[in-house]
Amino acid sequence: MAPFAVFQTFLSILMFLRIYQSEALAKPLPLTPESLKVSANSTHQCLHLQWTVRNIPYHQELKMVFQIQISRIKTSNVIRVENYNTTVKWKQVLHWSWESDLPLECATHFVRMKSLVDDANFSELNFWSNWSSWKEVNVQESLEQDTLLMFPKDKLVEEGSNVTICYISRNTQNNISCRLEENQIHGEQLDPHVFAFNLNNVSFIRKHGTTIFCEGPPKQKKGIVLFVSKVLDEPKDFSCETRDFKILSCTWDPGMDTALGFSKQPSQSYTLFESFSGEKKLCTHKNRCDWQITQDSQEFYNFTLTAANYLRKRSVNILFDLTHRGETGVVAAHIGH
Ligand SMILES: *[C@@H]1O[C@H](CO)[C@@H](O)[C@H](O)[C@H]1NC(C)=O
Ligand SMILES: *[C@@H]1O[C@H](CO)[C@@H](O)[C@H](O)[C@H]1NC(C)=O
Ligand SMILES: *[C@@H]1O[C@H](CO)[C@@H](O)[C@H](O)[C@H]1NC(C)=O
Ligand SMILES: *[C@@H]1O[C@H](CO)[C@@H](O)[C@H](O)[C@H]1NC(C)=O
Ligand SMILES: *[C@@H]1O[C@H](CO)[C@@H](O)[C@H](O)[C@H]1NC(C)=O
Ligand SMILES: *[C@@H]1O[C@H](CO)[C@@H](O)[C@H](O)[C@H]1NC(C)=O
Ligand SMILES: *[C@@H]1O[C@H](CO)[C@@H](O)[C@H](O)[C@H]1NC(C)=O
Ligand SMILES: *[C@@H]1O[C@H](CO)[C@@H](O)[C@H](O)[C@H]1NC(C)=O
Repeated sequence: MAPFAVFQTFLSILMFLRIYQSEALAKPLPLTPESLKVSANSTHQCLHLQWTVRNIPYHQELKMVFQIQISRIKTSNVIRVENYNTTVKWKQVLHWSWESDLPLECATHFVRMKSLVDDANFSELNFWSNWSSWKEVNVQESLEQDTLLMFPKDKLVEEGSNVTICYISRNTQNNISCRLEENQIHGEQLDPHVFAFNLNNVSFIRKHGTTIFCEGPPKQKKGIVLFVSKVLDEPKDFSCETRDFKILSCTWDPGMDTALGFSKQPSQSYTLFESFSGEKKLCTHKNRCDWQITQDSQEFYNFTLTAANYLRKRSVNILFDLTHRGETGVVAAHIGH
C-alpha cells in the first residue's frame, strides 16, 4: 500500500473511532427506530410499517433486531409481539407487514417498536433502544346510532381457512344474534360495541358464497357474504404427444373448477412454460393446450403446467426427448416428479 493510502486509511479509522468513542463515552448512540409510519390495507387486513434508523454510521451496515408490538382496542392490550431481524444500511428505509386475523375495521390497532444492535462489530451498541411512541391505526367507518356494521365484506378465502368476522353495534343494550346460513354462531365480546366470531375450517357451500347475518331489535339487520373457494387441485395425468412433429398436444385432468359467483373468482387459468426455449403460453382450454414445434428442431422439452386462481398456484412438470419416438410414431411423455 502506498504511504499516502495507508495514511488515509489510518485517518479514516481514527475519525471513525473518534466519532464512536466521543459519543459512546458521553452517551451511547441512540439507534432508535424513528419516523415510524403505519398504513392499513383493509382488503388484505394488513398493516404496513415503514421506518428509518437514525445514526447508522456513514456507509455502514449493521445487524439489528426490531421488536414490534401490536395492540388492539387499547395500547395495554398487546396481541402480538414479533422480532424482525435484519441488516440495516445507512439511510435505509425499512418495511415490515403484518396480517391481522380480525378485520381492521372491527377495532383500533396500535403499533410501536424498539431496536437492538446485534452485531459483533458494534458490540458496544448491544442494548435495547427505548420504545417508539404508539401509532394508532383506525380504519373504522362512521357508525350512526342504532346501526349495525359487519366485517369483512365479501371476503374470498380457501376452504379450510379460519375466518374472523365481527359486528359493531352502537347501541350496546341490543340483543343481537348472528347466523351462518341457518345456524346460530356465538361470538366473543371485544369491547362494549364489538363482537367477534371465529369460524374455523370454513367449508364450501355454494358458488355464490356463504351468508352470515346478524340481527337484533329494532329492525337492525346486516349480512355479509363469505366467498369460500375450493382448494385448487394439482393438474393430473399431464402428458404431451405429437403425431406430425408440428404440434405437440398436451392434455391433463384439471380437477375441480374453482370459479365463484359474482365474478369473485374466475375459473383457474392454465399456463404452459417450456424452459429450454423460455416460451410461455396461456392455454385457452382448461384441459388441453397445443404447442407449436419450432423449425429449429428442438430435441428436449421441459414443460411446466401451472394452474392458478386468486388464492393459489399449482405446477406439474414433464421432461422428454422428442426424437425418442415410440413404435407407433407417437411421442408421449408423462409426469415425472
Ligand atoms: C391493498 O393491496 C392491494 C395489493 O396488495 C392493492 O391492489 C390495493 O390497492 C391495496 N388497497 C389499499 C386501500 O391500499
Ligand atoms: C464486520 O466484521 C467482519 C469481520 O471482522 C467483516 O468481514 C465485516 O465486513 C464487518 N462488517 C462491517 C459492516 O463492518
Ligand atoms: C433474532 O435475533 C435475536 C437476538 O439476537 C435472536 O434471539 C433470535 O433468535 C433471532 N431470530 C431469528 C429468526 O433469527
Ligand atoms: C430512553 O429514554 C430516556 C428518557 O427519555 C433517556 O434518558 C434514555 O437515555 C433513553 N435510552 C436509550 C437507550 O435511548
Ligand atoms: C385454524 O384454527 C385451528 C384451531 O384454532 C388451528 O388448529 C388451525 O391450525 C387453524 N388453521 C389455519 C389454517 O390457520
Ligand atoms: C336474546 O335473544 C335470544 C333469542 O334471539 C334469547 O334467547 C335471549 O334470551 C335474549 N337475551 C337477552 C339478554 O335478552
Ligand atoms: C375441516 O372440515 C373438513 C370437512 O368439511 C374435515 O374433513 C376436516 O377434517 C376438518 N379439518 C380440521 C382441521 O378440523
Ligand atoms: C425444468 O423446468 C423446471 C421449471 O422451469 C426447472 O425447475 C427444472 O430445473 C427444469 N429441468 C431441467 C432438466 O432443465
